Amino acid sequence: MAKILVTGGTGYIGSHTVVELQNEGFEVVIVDNLSNSNIEVLNGIEKITGIRPAFENIDCVDYVSMDRMFEKYNDIQAIIHFAASKAVGESVEKPLLYYRNNLVSLINVLQLMPIHKIKNFVFSSSCTVYGQPDILPVTENAPVKPALSPYANTKQVGEEIIRDTIYANPCYKSIILRYFNPIGAHPSAEIGELPNGVPNNLLPFVTQTAIGLRKQLQVFGDDYNTPDGSCIRDYINVVDLAKAHVVAVKRLIDNQNASNVETFNLGTGRGLSVLEILNTFEKVNGVKVPHIIVGRREGDIEKVWADPSYANNVLGWTATESVEDTLESAWAWEQNLAKRSKQE
Ligand code: UD1
Repeated sequence: MAKILVTGGTGYIGSHTVVELQNEGFEVVIVDNLSNSNIEVLNGIEKITGIRPAFENIDCVDYVSMDRMFEKYNDIQAIIHFAASKAVGESVEKPLLYYRNNLVSLINVLQLMPIHKIKNFVFSSSCTVYGQPDILPVTENAPVKPALSPYANTKQVGEEIIRDTIYANPCYKSIILRYFNPIGAHPSAEIGELPNGVPNNLLPFVTQTAIGLRKQLQVFGDDYNTPDGSCIRDYINVVDLAKAHVVAVKRLIDNQNASNVETFNLGTGRGLSVLEILNTFEKVNGVKVPHIIVGRREGDIEKVWADPSYANNVLGWTATESVEDTLESAWAWEQNLAKRSKQE
């Protein structure tokens, strides 16, 4: 079976994608510098799939080490490039760190592909490229809006770098996946989201508050133009999201792609508010999440949710997990983490 390189493969979306790839019989090589993940993720992947993927502790910014890695694993058929920094606030404070991490790593991988005769490239992009869309749900044809943070800009520029590279070298093929808001964990509770430090994203903050690691959740704003005043997002189950990557890789390897660059929204098509997520989490899990309403967070979009019909029809992929099951899986993962840390 084909060998796939997964950069950022010990991260949140990366690790769930490695599981789905291995479940489908692909052989996986992970490259990760563990800057926002833990080596123990490999144990979780092995527990679920029975297979420990090859792992190389390399920073994709390091061209020479990446070149060596490609020589070692010389029959890679496709790359899924997750490795990137993703904290919006941090990117405002440290823009060069973000441009270096996210763009130099992308350029390195793209540059090394033809040298090592690799054609197929799947890129992690984000709905952040749409900013606040004028029309909801948002389709792939919606205009890209000026980026509100260096992080968001790295996704926009990253997409442009890929398009320009492929225009100049039609031997490459790429699928760009624009994620909405991935949440939840693998149903086994063996892997899940575990950011280093204080979480920026909603769900890890909710689960860490519910378990008592954080005192209270701050809900950023209840005065938006939405039914309950809190922001609306399209929350997608991380395993559903991971499965889309397997479909994308197969599409490229089997030459099923309609053009050399294709771009897909990966979302559910349903928008939920912060307060709806909070209430549903409390209800399905029977736990309280202490919270207060505070002011708006700078740079937040009021509402965004996907029109996923292009991915549904063309990729033959649809997000199927309910938000209730997804929120249960997030809680099961947090509880499993707590159990593990007690045992240590
Ligand atoms: C953000 C980025 C997105 C990026 C993603 C990855 C923006 C507009 N979007 O998504 O591009 O891919 O992070 O990290 O910058 N919230 C709270 N309290 C919290 C945390 C979050 O109320 O403690 C709210 C936010 O205001 C937002 C929602 O929860 O309305 C989701 O926030 P978050 O999980 O951080 O994701 P995004 O901001 O949508």
